Amino acid sequence: MTELANKAIQYCRDLACFSEKPGRTMRTFLSSPMHDVHRMLGSWMRQVGMEVSVDAAGNLRAVRHGGSARRLVIASHLDTVPNAGAFDGILGVVLGVALVEALGETYSGPTLEVIGFSEEEGVRFGIPFIGSRAVAGTLDDTILTPPILEAIRAFGLDPTSLPHAKLSAETTAYLEFHIEQGPILESLEIPLGIVDGIAGQSRLNLTFRGEANHAGTTPMILRRDALAAASEWICHVEQSAANKPGLVATVGAIAVEPNATNVIPGLVRVSLDVRHSSDEIRHSAVADLLAAAQKICATRDARTLASRVETPLYTCGPACEQYLDQPAVALNPNLVETLSRAVLSAGYPVHRMPSGAGHDAMILAPHVPAAMLFLRSPGGISHHPDESVITADVEAAIDVGLRFIANV
Ligand code: HGY
Ligand code: MN
Ligand code: MN
Repeated sequence: MTELANKAIQYCRDLACFSEKPGRTMRTFLSSPMHDVHRMLGSWMRQVGMEVSVDAAGNLRAVRHGGSARRLVIASHLDTVPNAGAFDGILGVVLGVALVEALGETYSGPTLEVIGFSEEEGVRFGIPFIGSRAVAGTLDDTILTPPILEAIRAFGLDPTSLPHAKLSAETTAYLEFHIEQGPILESLEIPLGIVDGIAGQSRLNLTFRGEANHAGTTPMILRRDALAAASEWICHVEQSAANKPGLVATVGAIAVEPNATNVIPGLVRVSLDVRHSSDEIRHSAVADLLAAAQKICATRDARTLASRVETPLYTCGPACEQYLDQPAVALNPNLVETLSRAVLSAGYPVHRMPSGAGHDAMILAPHVPAAMLFLRSPGGISHHPDESVITADVEAAIDVGLRFIANV
């Protein structure tokens, strides 16, 4: 198994070279490098006896027929964040193919379908989970906007075929291998984690609208500095989340206009990502943070002597746009139990844990019993080029995967 584990790791590292940016890994929804990934992975899939296709959402699909029509889907995503590591998402697809290779030509268990989802991160169009939503059959016109339909056509696919991307009716279980992307397994010194639930997430865009003006001639008391207001709020977001157990809140993206050294920022757009295992706590935290933006900006507006305060620095209306409200998801208790037994029989400690990161499993879980197996993230680092895995942990995941397939 060591050889197969090394082969899987090498595939991940080779596939990471297919990128929109030289020298770093960035592969977004239906970007050109995705053709290269389909070609390289598709070739290995065919070598191990799989029927390979690409569906209308750009998901790479490969089927290994077994002794029964009952189908286990093993899947994760092929797209990445900017300047990504080599394992987030794609490791789960590569391990699916590695398992089919390990099962060999005489395999007679449930039919296996390995899926490489085309879009999970939501980097290109701001919409996450397009690939897995197509497979779950939950794509709708709010997601299939003209630019996304155009991207599908530009990739050589036909959006009218999207309904055919849906899960096969014989699918009885879904399994996703994924790096933990956090510090827990390493701190416990164990290789694998069994995911019992995935935190819900809210994603929003907020706009702070002040007034651009001359940086040299405008006295501080006469300013309406959108970036200073946004900065005060961003510090409040961090402090507020730090004070609420289990809550994480992140401002990961910011755009300043006109973005010049000698001009007071007139307009600032920021992102907000809020997560918690309880949807109620998450929703209330989002409401609190939006109210705080309003309060911080109203205080600033009241304080300035600027003559023209036509529009408030911040209003949560069209300028505050929530574009994802993804509920928390519990994974299937029976499959969690089957996975736990597989881990135990392979001789590894059983550790059940929640996932703070979102995963395609949360999109499929309402439609098919779903399970996830985490692999330890050395250094707890992810969404970063230093993301890595340990060969022995990949070997353990393959061993557990074979035991899971034998008992699912
Ligand atoms: O953002 C996430 O949780 C995942 O990496 N898409
Ligand atoms: Mn990710
Ligand atoms: Mn991922």
